[in-house]
Amino acid sequence: MKTPDSSSPYFQPELETLSVEGLRALQSERLQQTVRRCAQVPFYRDKFAELGIRPEDIKSVDDVTKLPFTTKDDLRDHYPFGFASVPLRDCVRLHSSSGTTGNPTVVLHTQSDLDAWAEAVARCLWMVGARPDDVFQNSAGYGMFTAGLGFQYGAERVGMLTVPAAAGNTLRQIKFIRDFGTSVLHAIPSYASRIFEVMNEQGVDPRRDTKLRVLCIGAEPHSEEQRRRIEENLGVKAYNSYGISEMMGPGVAFECQEQNGLHIWEDYFIVEIVDPVTLERVPDGQLGELVLTTLRREAMPLLRYRTRDLTRILPGDCPCGRHHVRLARLQGRSDDMIILKGVNIFPIQIEKILLQFKEIGTDYLITLETREGEGDIMSVDVEVNNVFTDDYATLKRLEHEITRQLRDEILVTPRVRLVPKGTLPVSDEKKAVRVRDLRKLF
Ligand code: COA
Ligand code: ZN
Repeated sequence: MKTPDSSSPYFQPELETLSVEGLRALQSERLQQTVRRCAQVPFYRDKFAELGIRPEDIKSVDDVTKLPFTTKDDLRDHYPFGFASVPLRDCVRLHSSSGTTGNPTVVLHTQSDLDAWAEAVARCLWMVGARPDDVFQNSAGYGMFTAGLGFQYGAERVGMLTVPAAAGNTLRQIKFIRDFGTSVLHAIPSYASRIFEVMNEQGVDPRRDTKLRVLCIGAEPHSEEQRRRIEENLGVKAYNSYGISEMMGPGVAFECQEQNGLHIWEDYFIVEIVDPVTLERVPDGQLGELVLTTLRREAMPLLRYRTRDLTRILPGDCPCGRHHVRLARLQGRSDDMIILKGVNIFPIQIEKILLQFKEIGTDYLITLETREGEGDIMSVDVEVNNVFTDDYATLKRLEHEITRQLRDEILVTPRVRLVPKGTLPVSDEKKAVRVRDLRKLF
């Protein structure tokens, strides 16, 4: 049986068009529950004691500002299960970030968490017009990438026929799109462009030869012009999707058909925008760091999680009738995280791998660039020690080994080049320049 009824205008109208007061009441109730859950987590118990907070002091959504912030480092420091608020036997899945050099972050889910997540994604997909008659194809990585299973379960919840194509193999993606009649596709923006490029090479006209009509794009910064170009090329409407694995994954915020800001589901999260330095809230409309408190999470509730994503709240009502606030398109990060091919990478991960090689010096340069026919790539130039060999075969072997180890760590394949000592650029302050982002902004 396919649910919900395809004649219904919304997947969950009672929650999506809840009044502002209704949302506040729901948030207040769920915040109290969340704080009670957090009191089971030693990290939060200690923080509450430090700040003199008792769970019963938190009565309304306005009290959220009394609560402590949580950072990615806090999650790393309590790897793997330190943030669990339920026994592990009640959890049914975990997702983990990449990396072996430091502690990755782990996010735990109960069955109810997974259900809530699927509901959020279903709500997003329904909002942009996906219906049970559609065929949904997902070109995200599966496994630990939350966009794989996250979109999968959400699309199934809508009742679409789903094609879990996973990342890569563009010719096969195109064959699936054509043969299975894919009408709703999820791809990161640069990969959507790549699919179009390969369609062109193959003489496939997306408007003539496919049923594509809706595209969900996210996980990678992109401009309005890039969106319009993708829409024009593929003959689709493209909707911006935002999610982070610490919150669950995709489904946190999504554009509606107005394509004017991303509704963030306030029955799932309390949204704050803060100044990343002072941590004070900024007025609505002003740019700052997105801070989220989970309201529906059982296994791993998080209080005031600093996402490091910079955005602002769009003032005013959305003509679609949903009262959940809208975030402007994401405008960068307050930390040094790199997003490449939809994969999150911290330069420190690269540095830690490089430091393990005694043959190379301490200077390196990460360059991100867009290459014709190859898309966005990362090259890593590494200085070789003076004392090291100039034997070509030995150097090639070393390059190969560094590449392999970096790929295992960051999940994308960098182009590693060994360069003589003293050849890498130095910035004005005489500090080594570590990252250059030359990617083509559309
Ligand atoms: N999504 C889907 N496919 C992608 C992609 C992406 N973000 N980025 C690149 N690809 C494709 C390439 O076009 C290539 O296709 P081909 O087989 O037709 O040549 C293939 O994947 C391999 O890409 P390549 O760049 O050579 O490999 P890599 O080792 O650097 O990267 C990926 C490996 C692409 C598999 C890895 O980056 C990945 O899994 N990305 C997806 C991440 C993701 O889903 N994030 C969440 C999104 S919301
Ligand atoms: Zn709207």
